[in-house]
Amino acid sequence: MHTIILMNSKGGCGKTTLATNIAAWYADEGARVCLADYDPQRSSLDWLLARGDYQGIPEIRAIDAVNHPLRPPKGTDILVIDAPAGTHGGEIGKLLKRVDTLLMPVLPSLIDMRACSHFLKELMASGRAARGQIRTGIIANRVRENTRVFQQLDQYLGDLKIPILTHLRESQNYIRSAETGLGIFELAPSLVWQDVIQWDPVFDWLAQQQD
Ligand SMILES: Nc1ncnc2c1ncn2[C@@H]1O[C@H](COP(=O)(O)OP(=O)(O)OP(=O)(O)O)[C@@H](O)[C@H]1O
Ligand SMILES: [Mg+2]
Repeated sequence: MHTIILMNSKGGCGKTTLATNIAAWYADEGARVCLADYDPQRSSLDWLLARGDYQGIPEIRAIDAVNHPLRPPKGTDILVIDAPAGTHGGEIGKLLKRVDTLLMPVLPSLIDMRACSHFLKELMASGRAARGQIRTGIIANRVRENTRVFQQLDQYLGDLKIPILTHLRESQNYIRSAETGLGIFELAPSLVWQDVIQWDPVFDWLAQQQD
């Protein structure tokens, strides 16, 4: 089983949006996927509830990790964890206990980029991440054209050497995905192709890790 966590102490940067879409992508690929929600807001669980209304789309199993132990069903290939905002200190270590890969969404604002670099420093100093046991990548989210987000983020990351895997544009399709319980990959291709191609480097990077 491969465990991927979406984490950033900053609220509203896209953890749930990315967790649900990554879960949907792997499920569409035929993997047995489980989505664990550690957030009392239950946004991932609500998304899964909406997904339950459709016939014939790949199943994603749910774990309410706020109220239940993190025990994915036997045979799970991919476990995606949606972490809550505001995780610091000992909480980080607890969440990362069984994690292989950490993806961190970051909004392209100065406040968010600064907060991200502080959080990464805290993260990289703790337990398994400090020992290099967790592969970490950044996804710049809600990026409008013509912003210098890559250079700016790079500057804030300084010596951390964490790759910025892609940028995802600000798109109504993510709102649609949140409302419907479908991944953007499951919406009409004519509608979502510009968003879908932005994910290619992320899934390539994830595939490299699993080889
Ligand atoms: N690329 C995007 N384009 C447009 N809207 C987006 C995009 N990414 C996220 N959103 C919207 O931004 C809001 C916050 O995203 P999301 O809930 O995924 O963040 P979060 O990090 O999980 O928040 P929280 O810290 O509260 O759990 C949601 O309304 C979501 O639909
Ligand atoms: Mg969330």
